[in-house]
Amino acid sequence: MPAAVALALPTLAAVAARSSTTSTAAAPNPTTRGDPLIGRCRIAAPAPLVPLAATATRWLGHGCRGAPLVASPHQARNPPRLRFAAAATAAEGMAAEASAADAALTAEAKPFAVLFVCLGNICRSPAAEAVFRNLVSKRGLDSKFLIDSAGTIGYHEGNKADSRMISASKKRGIEVTSRSRPIKPSDFHDFDLILAMDRQNYEDILNSFERWRHKEPLPDSAPNKVKLMCSYCKRHTESEVPDPYYGGPQGFEKVLDLLDDACESLLDSIVADNANISA
Ligand code: 4NP
Repeated sequence: MPAAVALALPTLAAVAARSSTTSTAAAPNPTTRGDPLIGRCRIAAPAPLVPLAATATRWLGHGCRGAPLVASPHQARNPPRLRFAAAATAAEGMAAEASAADAALTAEAKPFAVLFVCLGNICRSPAAEAVFRNLVSKRGLDSKFLIDSAGTIGYHEGNKADSRMISASKKRGIEVTSRSRPIKPSDFHDFDLILAMDRQNYEDILNSFERWRHKEPLPDSAPNKVKLMCSYCKRHTESEVPDPYYGGPQGFEKVLDLLDDACESLLDSIVADNANISA
């Protein structure tokens, strides 16, 4: 049995019970969520009525507000089991319709999820996470976003960000507080956008996806979520955020300059593309 019907049937039974005892009660709110039948089924004014056996007449009340517990000649020609099959099919359609509506509502309420990814998740991506979080917060959009970062390797898992990155960011008023973690399969479900700091990160993210998708179901469209961070830069022409780990302090400043630029346009672009996020 399709899941939608399985979900709808208990509802049918519940509505039947209500209809058989409260057919004259006040109509329930047609917008009630989670009850795909309420407010959706209509029976025309009853024409000449013929009595049916009590068990049969009860079917007529299924999901139909205020329906009398008697049958029209047409209904009498269609035994309860057939009407039940028709009602179940209708319920399946209604349940599918209701679940599509629920999905739309959920999508509207769901925060937009952004994941920043570099190699070790101790320099560039934690800084990107902090810079983006700061911008989102300044625009009063905290509740609209889920923001995180990860590394393509787990070598630094659980560690704080590199102290050089923490202090360079602090001078610009940005607090880098995250702990390193490696990217994981569920990230391809959970995040709407995955921003790679350089081309190697980009390739590694897609390679991980290809490896993991053979072991567990992952959305086919997930590779489309992966973008290069610098593709959002407007003031800089660099195509990658360079790895500062083995370099001097100027490398960390350069990272922050690029991230400022990219994060600002990234946020503008997400806000422009998502009507439920208003600046
Ligand atoms: P990140 O920088 O990818 O920006 O976090 C690095 C961090 C650690 C290493 C390399 C780059 N490492 O070789 O451990």
